[in-house]
Amino acid sequence: DVSDISNVSDTSNVSSGSNTASATGVVGRPVERREGRAKVTGGARYAAEHTPPGCAYAWPVPATVARGRVVRVDGTEAMAVTGALAVLTHENAERLNRADDAILDVLQNPRVPHRGWYVAVAVAETIEAARAMAEAVRVEYEEEPHDVVLTPDHPGLYRPEEANGGAAGGRERGDFDREYGAAPHAIDVTYTLTPLHNHPMEPHAATALWEGGHLIAYDSSQGSTTVRQTLAALFDLDEGQVTVVSEHVGGGFGSKGTPRPNVVLAALAARHTGRPVKLSLPRREMPAIVGHRAPTIQRLRLGARADGTLTALAHEAVTHTSTVKEFVEQAAVPARVMYASTASRTQHRVAALDVPSPSWMRAPGEAPGMYALECAMDELAVELGIDPVELRLRNEPETEPDTGKPFSSRHLTDCLREGARRFGWHERDPRPGVRRREGDLLLGTGVASATYPVIVAPSTASAEALPDGTFHVRVNATDIGTGARTVLAQVAAEQLGAPLEAVRIDIGSSDLPSASLAGGSSGTASWGWAVHKACRELRAAGGGIATVDTTSDVQAQEEYARHAFGAVFAEVQADTVTGWVRVRRMLGVFAAGRILNPRTARSQFLGGMTMGLGMALTEHSTLDPATGRFIEADLAGYHVPACADVPDIAVDWIHEDDRYLNPVGGKGIGEIGIVGTPAAIANAFHHATGLRCRDLPLTPDRTG
Ligand code: MOS
Repeated sequence: DVSDISNVSDTSNVSSGSNTASATGVVGRPVERREGRAKVTGGARYAAEHTPPGCAYAWPVPATVARGRVVRVDGTEAMAVTGALAVLTHENAERLNRADDAILDVLQNPRVPHRGWYVAVAVAETIEAARAMAEAVRVEYEEEPHDVVLTPDHPGLYRPEEANGGAAGGRERGDFDREYGAAPHAIDVTYTLTPLHNHPMEPHAATALWEGGHLIAYDSSQGSTTVRQTLAALFDLDEGQVTVVSEHVGGGFGSKGTPRPNVVLAALAARHTGRPVKLSLPRREMPAIVGHRAPTIQRLRLGARADGTLTALAHEAVTHTSTVKEFVEQAAVPARVMYASTASRTQHRVAALDVPSPSWMRAPGEAPGMYALECAMDELAVELGIDPVELRLRNEPETEPDTGKPFSSRHLTDCLREGARRFGWHERDPRPGVRRREGDLLLGTGVASATYPVIVAPSTASAEALPDGTFHVRVNATDIGTGARTVLAQVAAEQLGAPLEAVRIDIGSSDLPSASLAGGSSGTASWGWAVHKACRELRAAGGGIATVDTTSDVQAQEEYARHAFGAVFAEVQADTVTGWVRVRRMLGVFAAGRILNPRTARSQFLGGMTMGLGMALTEHSTLDPATGRFIEADLAGYHVPACADVPDIAVDWIHEDDRYLNPVGGKGIGEIGIVGTPAAIANAFHHATGLRCRDLPLTPDRTG
């Protein structure tokens, strides 16, 4: 029942797999990306690669204090640079309407809420001149004392009403204190994670121009519909007066899921100078401007009977937000989904510090939360002398623990069992730190579960039959590197009963039928639903054009608990001399509904697991208490995994036929790959060495 796609480049091995369940065989085939050639030949244009005639360049000026007010901006020196056009500040920039997202209220007032907040922007004939100008802008501040240090007993901590995603800030089920107090076996452990940064390969960038009263912006975004709405609201325009194009996007990982200052500043500067303006964020400024995964301090208390049955589960997360807005990383939320227990407490506490605003980073909530929960399950397994796979199987719930809702489908146990079999788990000696050794290296294996919610949002789409027998499908989906174009064309071809080559698909512009963003692993299901519906209606009508909206379909969904699940297995080596930890092999087995394209799906799972490897072993960020700066601000300091860090990773999936999802049948795969990986690696490190290292990443300063 598990498709082996380890040799996906040989397509003949795959097309007959169990995921090819459609009439025409188009969906489920490992079709190559439509824009692949354009991308590798440089033909694909990204936001900063549009250069309208007369284009000027902007370079932002970040605040050099962590809190305070701008009292004076002197642009005299900057304006003396050859090619200088303007220096925009809060004093001369156009007054905009207030943004729903306060990070976009740039150059609107003198307040500096955190280090790196933009206090001015320089505009010039060339990018070099703009940069020289930005360095020559003199800013005087009235500095105030700042606080960027999160501690478990910070006096500013409070219990938020809501965490990210609209989840309740806190939940109690049963009497946790009583059950925990009475539990014959208990653990009480705390895990600490530093801030983490998205760092997509393509930095955030925008090119903006005004054609009369019409604003056109090329923006590197995960969803240009939202960018259009936001720009229209800020500049007091009708949405019809704004066009936002995001044709190709070089990754986002959540940081481009909401509009960022680059597009607002480019539009402001374009209006101010009467020229098209291009603004690309310098890599080193991204950590302060584009959001980050907030740090967490997570306390896990598990109470269990001798047979491993959980009686009490508390997951309490402490995190930070900024003074600009409240964003609460929902780390305790997956504990409401994962395991049966008699009583549970899941609670977030947050402090608003003088830090850049945190935001979405691939699997917000689930990635850090499942790291802590799945390590705690491993600690409990060791405490009880029960195999960690078996402990999870014994706590499989009948219904979603916190809501009592039935699952639309849940194949976690299949992922664990199949993964264990394929990984060779059962040959493992459970004793930590005693067995396998190669010279100075200790070897160990670990496992963790993964989960991610199924999110779907209303979208619109149109499908048109053309006289030459081909079809034209239009939907404002965004391809952030996932292969969205390709998969949507597959969905369309299947419904139209047409060959894939006969389907032309346009995405990536707000002038197309509006659609939801590429976020929350919701893209394919949301856009695919609209494309599916449009193509069906077109076929039923026998031609012409069909335009559809899935709002009522999405709202009519029945009350099921919908989540994707998975299991990740890892083998690591720990060097007993240097403390260096490396992953030797990994396997992820996922249950995520119907897999529409095994080639692009595998890449998504693989990318997620690689990002999880980075979270476990290399990625680390420090907020400098003295300056309020993120110290590891570029890719020389913030270590994402390099090719040599990434071993052989195997990806498989369980065929899952879930009729309570959407007509396309997919659950979303963009985020679940990261979720179980850090815990699987950390648990393998413990198995190798006998040491528990609860703070990530597992770098020699912690593991030595
Ligand atoms: Mo994802 S963090 O919702 O782009």
